[in-house]
Amino acid sequence: MRKKEEKSHEAPIERLLFRHRLVASLYDHRSGYYDPLVHILSGGWDWHYRKVAVNRLQLHPGDQVLDMGCGTGIDIPLLYRRVGPEGRVVGIDLSQGMICRARKRISRNPSVNIPLVRGNALYLPFESNSFDAVFCDYLISTLPAVIAIKEAFRVAKPGASMVFADDRLPSGWFASPLKSITGFFRHGYFNSALAGIEFLRANLSSVKITNHHAGLIFIISGIFQG
Ligand SMILES: C[S@@+](CC[C@H](N)C(=O)[O-])C[C@H]1O[C@@H](n2cnc3c(N)ncnc32)[C@H](O)[C@@H]1O
Repeated sequence: MRKKEEKSHEAPIERLLFRHRLVASLYDHRSGYYDPLVHILSGGWDWHYRKVAVNRLQLHPGDQVLDMGCGTGIDIPLLYRRVGPEGRVVGIDLSQGMICRARKRISRNPSVNIPLVRGNALYLPFESNSFDAVFCDYLISTLPAVIAIKEAFRVAKPGASMVFADDRLPSGWFASPLKSITGFFRHGYFNSALAGIEFLRANLSSVKITNHHAGLIFIISGIFQG
């Protein structure tokens, strides 16, 4: 009985840790060809909505901005251009392979101040109230969105500008298309980002939601009131 109780208590954490290891290793393996793959899958349009998403973030020179799930750092140069050398872009990602790619990208300009951290968006290793803006591109459909958004709120300063962009395809399609299709037939349609959209809509002010790429991509922006 005791064993059963312990097991039922521990299982969700174990499952979550297992899932995180799996996600990290999937992205580690894809890191080498992630950029061209995304570009091809979006029909070359990803640059368009990346620029729109970054422009929606109300950034000022000198701001500290967090890029949650920064991946290979594709958005980092766009963010850095807006905060300037007196500002700071901090990138965090679960996958060491993706972080290495991002490091390689920013090493082309060694004078920039861009710390890249391997860590989990569900338990951000940053102090509360520390960022002027949070940017999150293609992450919330891949994890429990509301927990990640609550973490973003915790580390953001009151008045921080926030942008979350993602797709509306079934969660996990990019990491494991086959699993996503079988999951769809077993459990129906599920996209973690949709719960995230509702949570953001209820908790941000000046909310703006736009659709791109025939409605497959959404960008939601707003101001965190604290
Ligand atoms: C689809 S990629 C998006 C990367 C980048 N933001 C972009 O727009 O190209 C999702 C990224 O989220 C990262 N990721 C997944 N789960 C995470 C978590 N719990 N914490 C931090 N990063 C995570 C993956 O390693 C991957 O790099």
